[in-house]
Amino acid sequence: MKIGSHAVVRMLGTWQEGPGPAHQRLSDRLRLLILDGRISLGATLPSERDLAIALGTSRTTVGTAFRTLVDHGYLATQARTRATVRLPDGTTSAAPVGTDAETIDLSIAAPAAPVEILHAAFAAALEQLPRHFERHGYDRYGTAELREAVARWYQRRGLPTRPDHILITNGAQHALALLTRTLVSPRDQVLIDHPTYPHAITTFTQARARLLPVAVTSSGWDTEQLQAAVRAASLAYLIPDFHNPTGMCMPTSVRQRLRLACPTVVDETMTDLALDVPSPQPLALHMPAVISIGSVSKSIWGGLRTGWIRALPSLLERVEQVRPTTDLGTPVVEQLATAVLLDKHQTRQPETLQQLRSQREALRQAISEHLPDVDILRPVGGVTLWATFPEPISSRLAAMAPDHGVTIAAGPRFGVGGAFERNIRLPYTLPPSQLTRAIRRLAETEQALARGATGTHTPAPTA
Ligand SMILES: Cc1ncc(COP(=O)(O)O)c(C=O)c1O
Repeated sequence: MKIGSHAVVRMLGTWQEGPGPAHQRLSDRLRLLILDGRISLGATLPSERDLAIALGTSRTTVGTAFRTLVDHGYLATQARTRATVRLPDGTTSAAPVGTDAETIDLSIAAPAAPVEILHAAFAAALEQLPRHFERHGYDRYGTAELREAVARWYQRRGLPTRPDHILITNGAQHALALLTRTLVSPRDQVLIDHPTYPHAITTFTQARARLLPVAVTSSGWDTEQLQAAVRAASLAYLIPDFHNPTGMCMPTSVRQRLRLACPTVVDETMTDLALDVPSPQPLALHMPAVISIGSVSKSIWGGLRTGWIRALPSLLERVEQVRPTTDLGTPVVEQLATAVLLDKHQTRQPETLQQLRSQREALRQAISEHLPDVDILRPVGGVTLWATFPEPISSRLAAMAPDHGVTIAAGPRFGVGGAFERNIRLPYTLPPSQLTRAIRRLAETEQALARGATGTHTPAPTA
């Protein structure tokens, strides 16, 4: 596959900012795009000349950057052919990041399972299971038990919902993928929060959609900008409560004003994790056409792999029809256990919320002690905070952090065009002692980076 120079320029984003010579910044950025999978293995890059013109830089800068990548095994070149993307020998056979018992994994934003609660839910599910044995067990809409329990979850939040408004999926990510396959065609424009959840970006770009990023800043969502951008969009995807990665909550006044004239998917994966504010009203109360997706992955456990779509039955019918090419339904026992958890209101346990608050506090204290130059937005819910460094070092920090025993998700994964190079997302889903140790290690990484070291690790996956 050939990548055009303009596509590379878009992916590189603001590569010119930051310390060091331009060729080094360029090779660092290209290396991270390769390691991140945003430039595919085997792809051919534009010629040095074309890329230099598109970047508005000298051919020497591009040539030197390419040679560095060849020397380090990230590009292969042959006489008179364009450079081909590869990985250095041994990169893929190295132990996957995060599997080392000593490494603290801050790249995944999800809590460990609440053992007793989950155990009791599965015990109840196993008792109910035999009544499903008379049927074949394939159900593309999900079990009646879970569809009813999810409908009740919405009703408790003030949103009238019938079970036939619900289709059960294998997690919220699956819900998003199914909706994308149903609603998005190549070259469609999809409006996203910027920053946003990284797997949403990949889902839309793999569907060959074009992204319309609308900034979510420290002052939140801008209604006018959203409404202006949406005119060109075929779909909008928003995370109003609680936003990943910033942990912000869209204010009621914005919810009341917002009118988006295209199908709008609202991701409510974090909704039950309200830490400092009352539980927000569903956006669908104000915009009835909203398609909501959710799961219990953050409020209970990601390993359950259950989620849902709330939409009009006519849309669910279309989703049900695209589903069989990838899966034929969600495991029954997990659905029954999830129904128990929702009906017992265990997705918003006061103890869980209190634990998240103290972990968030431990993380904030560790940051102010060990990374005093780093600014953080105070999240009012969810499981992550968004940290801003004074310099654009995020990708290099993420590449080097595993050498110091910690993995993080770099800011640019949460945006497009290389944005957020000064940011990282930090989850507070680990015990306070581990969070403190992780931040100390991150501070060591930052110091090593300032001394001029470079990293070699493949960025960790995110969730
Ligand atoms: C905003 C958001 N949506 C969806 C997901 C995926 O959730 P699930 O595990 O239910 O597929 C995540 C997981 O990180 C998320 O943060």
